[in-house]
Amino acid sequence: MENTNLNGKTVIVTGANRGLGKAITHNLAKMGAFVYMVCRDPVMGKEVEKEFLEDNLNVKLKITDLEKIEDIGNLYNEIASEKDYIDILINNAGVNLEEPDTRIDNLDMNILQRTMDINFRGLLYTCQKFLNLLIKAPEARIINFSSGLGQLTVPRMGYYPAYSISKTAVNALTKNLAFELKDTNVSVFSVDPGWVKTRLGGPEAPLEIKEGIDTTIFLSTERIANLQSGEFYKERKILGW
Ligand SMILES: NC(=O)c1ccc[n+]([C@@H]2O[C@H](COP(=O)([O-])OP(=O)(O)OC[C@H]3O[C@@H](n4cnc5c(N)ncnc54)[C@H](OP(=O)(O)O)[C@@H]3O)[C@@H](O)[C@H]2O)c1
Repeated sequence: MENTNLNGKTVIVTGANRGLGKAITHNLAKMGAFVYMVCRDPVMGKEVEKEFLEDNLNVKLKITDLEKIEDIGNLYNEIASEKDYIDILINNAGVNLEEPDTRIDNLDMNILQRTMDINFRGLLYTCQKFLNLLIKAPEARIINFSSGLGQLTVPRMGYYPAYSISKTAVNALTKNLAFELKDTNVSVFSVDPGWVKTRLGGPEAPLEIKEGIDTTIFLSTERIANLQSGEFYKERKILGW
């Protein structure tokens, strides 16, 4: 059974100004949650915040570049001065900076570094910083955005190596963190949204945004007893890693 009444819940969504993050923010705020919208681009961030506020949704924009450790520290300090605890942290922000013909043998080290810094280090540090606010919630969830390209149980498709490796690392983080938190009120999940039409997914993707956010909304609202911390979900089901 899903809890579609999120009144009183506080959520953080990274990458909330467009694509999947924008739609997740909209859906959870419609259910009554207060949502911190984290993104890097202030212009698009303010536009979307305005659109949501005009729709009477409870949102607040926090401009943060997740590539920068000090920005994540500042984000934490601001939110910790405003809230006693956080119920749901959705680490959705991500980049794919590679050309389709990128392979390990021609991978640019700067691209590798930036991809790992945004998709993995920034995500891990966000978890680390916000843990003490999540632990104070009656029941808390962390949802980490991975990808089918991060899965090791299917043959590697041989492209986007930095992106793919960064998403495998996200899955490893989910496993490790869930184990560390097994005796607490905090559950940790990885999610594969499928291939979705967004700026990152491109126009040829088969899924619409509404379909791409379904599992994340499910993981945010389903009774915790029906979910398994430390697992990787797609289409509401547990996937092999
Ligand atoms: N679409 C797909 O087919 C697909 C498939 C599998 C997994 N995913 C994953 O799903 C997540 C959302 O992707 P999407 O398709 O919605 O992509 P998108 O439309 O390109 O949106 C990416 C979001 O990430 C934010 N972001 C990127 N770098 C950032 C940084 N350094 N600091 C803060 N925010 C940053 C962007 O904010 P700014 O505009 O401010 O930069 C934007 O809001 C990603 O983690 C992606 O890897 C997507």
